[in-house]
Amino acid sequence: MFGAGSVGPGWGNGKATAVLFAREGAHVACVDVNEAAARETADIIAKEGGRASAHVCDATNSAAVAALVQEVISAHGRIDVLHNNVGYASMGGPIELDEATWQRSLDLNVTTCFLAAKHVLPHMLARKSGAIINVSSVAAIRYTGYPYPAYYAAKAAVNNFTMGLALQYARDGIRVNAIMPGLMNTPLIHQQISGQYASADEMVAARDAASPTGKMGTAWDIAHAALFLASDEAGYITGVALAVDGGLTCRAA
Ligand SMILES: NC(=O)c1ccc[n+]([C@@H]2O[C@H](COP(=O)([O-])OP(=O)(O)OC[C@H]3O[C@@H](n4cnc5c(N)ncnc54)[C@H](O)[C@@H]3O)[C@@H](O)[C@H]2O)c1
Repeated sequence: MFGAGSVGPGWGNGKATAVLFAREGAHVACVDVNEAAARETADIIAKEGGRASAHVCDATNSAAVAALVQEVISAHGRIDVLHNNVGYASMGGPIELDEATWQRSLDLNVTTCFLAAKHVLPHMLARKSGAIINVSSVAAIRYTGYPYPAYYAAKAAVNNFTMGLALQYARDGIRVNAIMPGLMNTPLIHQQISGQYASADEMVAARDAASPTGKMGTAWDIAHAALFLASDEAGYITGVALAVDGGLTCRAA
């Protein structure tokens, strides 16, 4: 699980998914660029009696991802589920963003999925078994109201990367799906989105009001979707980009 920590206090999508996977019996390799964040998630799992290990790794660094995958394979012999949760929304269009920030947005959102797949797929192929989940966003297919074209572009790439992998490996026992969170109430929005509003309270109220259900979703909504896609019950599901958005993407305006 890449991006298993949380950027702030509370439940992020990655942290909740890691904990839910462990509750279902998985040994979760909690990988994060931030050691304390990885450790926090692994500690929550351990306190619940689950199995987890904490690993520091920059998911944009191919050599680091390769070494991490080898470490996990050496310790556990196999990887059943690869969950790519790392992502970042950089506000600003082509005029405001410099080239490095544009590239960083692509790297964090989609190169992370590519690198993790690059190093994990050979092990899944050898066993003809595996499930890969890439965390995308409704921003992959809709304008969400925020001026972050690099994020729209990067998440659209996540969806189509998912589709391409799913079909390439459909006969190899490997399923590849994406999740598109909608308006979620996670610590991330306080770091990456709140600057678009006068205050955090205003952001929460506006995002609740913008959700068709009248409330943002939570990290647990994403975690339960991920658990299903990772499970054998989703055995005939591959190549989908599942919106978990309270109906947001059904709405015309
Ligand atoms: N919260 C929302 O409203 C929302 C909506 C749509 C999509 N998403 C997507 O959900 C995902 C994140 O959800 P979250 O709530 O877990 O976010 P989060 O930012 O709290 O957690 C992500 C974790 O990834 C780690 N990370 C960042 N860069 C990394 C790197 N280079 N290598 C390894 N780890 C790295 C961070 O340290 C953090 O602990 C992203 O892909 C985001 O685009 C979120």
